[in-house]
Amino acid sequence: MPTPMPVPSANPLPDDEAHLWIARLDDLRDPALLAAYADLLADDEAEACARYRLPERRHEHLVTRALVRTVLSRYAGDVPPRAWRFTANAYGRPEIAGPAAGGALRFNLSNTRGLVVCLVARGREVGVDVEAVDRAARCLDVADHYFAPPEVAALRALPPAAQPERFLTYWTLKESYIKARGMGLSLPLERFAFVLDPARPDSIAIEIDPALGDHPDRWQFRTLRYRHSHTIATAVERRSDDRAPIRVVARETVPLVG
Ligand SMILES: CC(C)(COP(=O)(O)OP(=O)(O)OC[C@H]1O[C@@H](n2cnc3c(N)ncnc32)[C@H](O)[C@@H]1OP(=O)(O)O)[C@@H](O)C(=O)NCCC(=O)NCCS
Repeated sequence: MPTPMPVPSANPLPDDEAHLWIARLDDLRDPALLAAYADLLADDEAEACARYRLPERRHEHLVTRALVRTVLSRYAGDVPPRAWRFTANAYGRPEIAGPAAGGALRFNLSNTRGLVVCLVARGREVGVDVEAVDRAARCLDVADHYFAPPEVAALRALPPAAQPERFLTYWTLKESYIKARGMGLSLPLERFAFVLDPARPDSIAIEIDPALGDHPDRWQFRTLRYRHSHTIATAVERRSDDRAPIRVVARETVPLVG
């Protein structure tokens, strides 16, 4: 389970940690603050933001951009939030294009109704997904369609009352993995399966079809229930020189404020 994080200091992102920053959309409605966020955006981000017709989606997009920019600047002290430049990989994953001070930083973003999250680490790929707990309606139908057979079987074996929570755990874990790989839905969701042991929540195993060109030991997964309203899953790449689990440290933030 992630633990509260101290205020960043001189060496704020050790090699053996990944930091999960959480912004609550309903706390971020002050017009002056939102104007300050808009000032951080590059032209293409502002244009993308303006294309959202629904005000809620526009707000979510704006906060997401402000979150990633302010989070990255915490770890590259001399880079102001406005200075970051981004590019997208072949599958649409945003990555740092500059300045060079951001070189080893890796991040991933997820947003859903009410919440935006940013996971960041140094020199490791990361993936994150957040979903609101009320997304678990009709969960068996969705699982039949998207999940791997062992996941569907494990879900169906649970009492009905326990199924929605397990469903969201699988869903967010699967998203965190395809996002850490940076390949989105081009990775077939039924070709990898999570194996959960409810007695050991920090022991989340993955089985991966060798055709996907990956090894289960390469990843560490965690899940977190946020305030009874959201489920968050993180995927963090492990390295051969890792001696211990990577600590995933979660903290709420108001971009530009604290
Ligand atoms: C696009 C996708 C990577 C994530 O989509 P999502 O879950 O709807 O959205 P999230 O909020 O979690 O993530 C969106 C963010 O992921 C990042 N992202 C986009 N493409 C990405 C990729 N290929 N790899 C990693 N991250 C990516 C972006 O930062 C994006 O936010 P932004 O556009 O504001 O910058 C992809 O997984 C997808 O389309 N999923 C559809 C959901 C689904 O059907 N899931 C099946 C159930 S298991």
